[in-house]
Amino acid sequence: MSYHDELVAALKDFPSGRIGPLSGTVGWTCPSNIAIVKYWGKRPVQIPMNPSLSITLDKAVTETRVDYSIDPGRKETGLSFFFEKKPAPDFEARILKVLTAVTAYLPFLKQAELTVHSRNSFPHSSGIASSASAMGALALCLCEMEEQILKQAPERKTNQETKKILKQVQDGRSSLKDEEWFFRKASFIARLGSGSASRSVYGNMALWGESKEWAGSSNEYAIPVIPVHRNLGAIRDTILIVESGAKKVSSSAGHALMQNNPFAEVRFRQAGTNLSLLKEYIASGDWKGFIEILETEALTLHAMMMTGRPGYLLMQPESLKIISLVREYRNGTGHRVGFTLDAGANVHLIYAEEDAKEIDAFIGSDLRAYCENGYFISDRMGNGPSRTGTDARKI
Ligand code: DP6
Repeated sequence: MSYHDELVAALKDFPSGRIGPLSGTVGWTCPSNIAIVKYWGKRPVQIPMNPSLSITLDKAVTETRVDYSIDPGRKETGLSFFFEKKPAPDFEARILKVLTAVTAYLPFLKQAELTVHSRNSFPHSSGIASSASAMGALALCLCEMEEQILKQAPERKTNQETKKILKQVQDGRSSLKDEEWFFRKASFIARLGSGSASRSVYGNMALWGESKEWAGSSNEYAIPVIPVHRNLGAIRDTILIVESGAKKVSSSAGHALMQNNPFAEVRFRQAGTNLSLLKEYIASGDWKGFIEILETEALTLHAMMMTGRPGYLLMQPESLKIISLVREYRNGTGHRVGFTLDAGANVHLIYAEEDAKEIDAFIGSDLRAYCENGYFISDRMGNGPSRTGTDARKI
């Protein structure tokens, strides 16, 4: 049974017409992530062509608050969206689409009027994937809304699975099973907003996409990568901003270009091989192997962009300069540092916390000169999203 079927079955008797009126507030903070093995290429509906694995960041987060009211008389979702306190009609339209796409799994949304406030801890055009943190935070808020609604609307006809969840929620029990259910559903919902967002609902490292070698992996949601060897337990990510501003190619256009890329099949297979190797390196704490995969994956992503039709060159001369300096530095010092890139010119330096003092000095002395206005963002692997609940009122 697919997870989609499981969710739909669990909600079969959700009495959407019989809840409310009720209202509440939910708030979540969700980090962005940087992929080691990249997701590039998808098929409907938001199914990746290969599995991907990422590091969840710590400081680069989206904070989202949803004030909701449920009115049984409503027939469609109402939405007002504010980004950093200002109405944001473009985002609003995108979010409304996502809400429509997820209503099958969150049926109360049809009767909901939502006011969403959101803000990022990082500059909008810094090249950090804001869709991952934004869609992650939104999905977590929606799942929490569901939990609150279940708590407030106990009088209803339910099927077995819903009854079980309802009972657990009402008992205030938070067994591992409940948590697992909550985050899995949030990851599933986040994926429908943006593929990479599915991985952001978990801390440390997360894997999205089916892989024979990873028990429990799925194309429909991400899973946490456990255990991670202690050598890889503390990872830094410094994002060197070579070029701020809007992306040259949107992710959706980029994914679509893979459909006619002559190297696509080889690439999808390569991702599988890289993921198997990465699994070994994560288990054994092998930084050298980890960096090899990190860099190969980044360069392959860019190779795919170059070999599409039309082909795109997303790196800038400064990106290439940084890459060669990092390799020289690593060869000279033996420090555990490597680079990766998203579909843009900015370079993420990934390195071991233990070597951070020296590497930070190297960034300041040698790399900073290649950043736009000397700008970079220091981040690290983090613990994942957190509930901000009513603290989110200040957003
Ligand atoms: C290069 O998740 O932004 O960052 O599903 O269309 O929203 P959509 O795409 P998106 O693609 C991310 C691509 C990437 C690699 C990755 O994060 O795995």
